[in-house]
Amino acid sequence: MGAEFYDRRWELEWLDEKWRSPGGQLLLVYGRRRVGKTRLLLEWAREECPAAPRPA
Ligand SMILES: Nc1ncnc2c1ncn2[C@@H]1O[C@H](COP(=O)(O)OP(=O)(O)OP(=O)(O)O)[C@@H](O)[C@H]1O
Ligand SMILES: [Mg+2]
Repeated sequence: MGAEFYDRRWELEWLDEKWRSPGGQLLLVYGRRRVGKTRLLLEWAREECPAAPRPA
């Protein structure tokens, strides 16, 4: 998945908290191009969501 994943602790904890809280939610991850939005979600999904799609 590229270089070692660096320093997204706050964002990963935020995703965990939202994932664990009951009820449906719509989350928006936004930021500049190439800042790491997709990588963040893939790294989080790898740990927390076995059903999530896996990168090749
Ligand atoms: N926390 C991180 N540690 C190390 N590398 C990272 C990190 N976040 C992103 N990268 C790397 O930086 C590059 C861009 O990341 P990514 O594709 O997730 O950005 P993006 O915000 O989704 O970009 P786009 O706006 O083009 O969709 C990728 O090669 C990715 O592996
Ligand atoms: Mg992206």
